[in-house]
Amino acid sequence: MKPSSITTAAAAAAAAAAGLAFAHGVLAAAPTAGDLSILSMNVAGLPAILNSNDVPGDKTTNAQTIGAAFSRYGFDIIHVQEDFNYHAAIYAADTTHPYRTATSGGVPFGSGLNTLSNLPWLDFTRVKWDRCSDASSSDCLTPKGFTFMRVALSGGLTGGDNSAAVYVDVYNMHTDAGTEADDLVARQSNINQVAAYIAAWSAGNAVLVYGDSNSRYSRAGDTAIRGLLASGMSDAWVELERGGAVSAVETLCGNPSTTDYCETVDKVFYRSSPLATLTPAAFAYVGGRFLQADGNILSDHNPVQVNFTWAAGSALRQSNFWGGPHGTYWLDGVGLTLADGTSFSHGGTGGTAATLALGAAEYWVGAQLCQGQKSGETRNFYIRATTSAGRTLAAGTATEDCATFAAPAGWHIAGYVGQGGDEVDQLAFVYAPR
Ligand SMILES: *[C@@H]1O[C@H](CO)[C@@H](O)[C@H](O)[C@H]1NC(C)=O
Repeated sequence: MKPSSITTAAAAAAAAAAGLAFAHGVLAAAPTAGDLSILSMNVAGLPAILNSNDVPGDKTTNAQTIGAAFSRYGFDIIHVQEDFNYHAAIYAADTTHPYRTATSGGVPFGSGLNTLSNLPWLDFTRVKWDRCSDASSSDCLTPKGFTFMRVALSGGLTGGDNSAAVYVDVYNMHTDAGTEADDLVARQSNINQVAAYIAAWSAGNAVLVYGDSNSRYSRAGDTAIRGLLASGMSDAWVELERGGAVSAVETLCGNPSTTDYCETVDKVFYRSSPLATLTPAAFAYVGGRFLQADGNILSDHNPVQVNFTWAAGSALRQSNFWGGPHGTYWLDGVGLTLADGTSFSHGGTGGTAATLALGAAEYWVGAQLCQGQKSGETRNFYIRATTSAGRTLAAGTATEDCATFAAPAGWHIAGYVGQGGDEVDQLAFVYAPR
């Protein structure tokens, strides 16, 4: 719905936008559709002395072979689990993925979770499970858990055109192993924890959750993954290999698997949102691409590849985020009032509000945000809104580090998304067709 007014407020009196430098270049528009190839692989990187994983050969050599294969097949976002003591060898042998998480350490310090990506991200977070069980296997030996990152499928890099971006919230996980009663309780708790995080942090966003779920639909006790499906996620294997139906019949995979019909514990869940659609196009166990020179396996898990197509929303789109990832001070707030009187505001209630009522055929179509440093953290200090009639409304104090945002042709700024509790720090604009 079209807002009827825009409100901005700043604790300091709104500063004049004097002396601002605008960079106007010829910028390629960010793509609004594309392909995404992902890989999930438990790389069996526990110290050889603790666990051979029934994989022959030298673990460092095997890690190098895994890293080289990561570079060879065009995977865009790779999630690894059990990436503990041979991590450096994998990263050294992968020569193509520019974005990588820093390891959280070997056994017993790290979670074994890492990501290698062709695409940049925001807000990487590691979360430890609230519950683990040593009923079978030593799940409490290391701080296992999940990771969160907001990956930019399009746009997302500041310095270019900030007006358009497509994001997907990407989670890697490694849940509790085993089938004893206490393992099942821990695993249910783990999946509930991821689901609660998604509900809190990924509301309204497309999501990918993939990793080692230690679960099979064929086990009656593995109720947690069915719960994920019930919460609105889909499983790429269920959709593409099983016609959308979950089966309780056990079909175990060989390694490497010669069929994609069988079930492993390594799973890929996804959901679309009004901002971005994810459609699975191909599912494959790709153990055959991860073999030693003598033909032996490199891991006791079949790596899983899924190819998706993605598309920006047809009724909602968004811009890049601007500002720092801190839940602290922002210029006091931005508000919108809809024609029916409903109003939304973010960023606190202080400051002096300035309001611009929009005319009947007038839309909010452009914005400028300026960020700066306060106490060593990046925050937004200034906003200026521009309407289709060329009128402007500003608040805050301009800095020299500004970004401009323009709604796509035929669209308008319908709202915004930010991060934080009482305040707004990062901000992105949400667009809707006029
Ligand atoms: C999946 O994507 C990769 C990388 O783009 C490509 O090489 C591969 O052919 C695709 N596989 C299928 C089955 O479409």
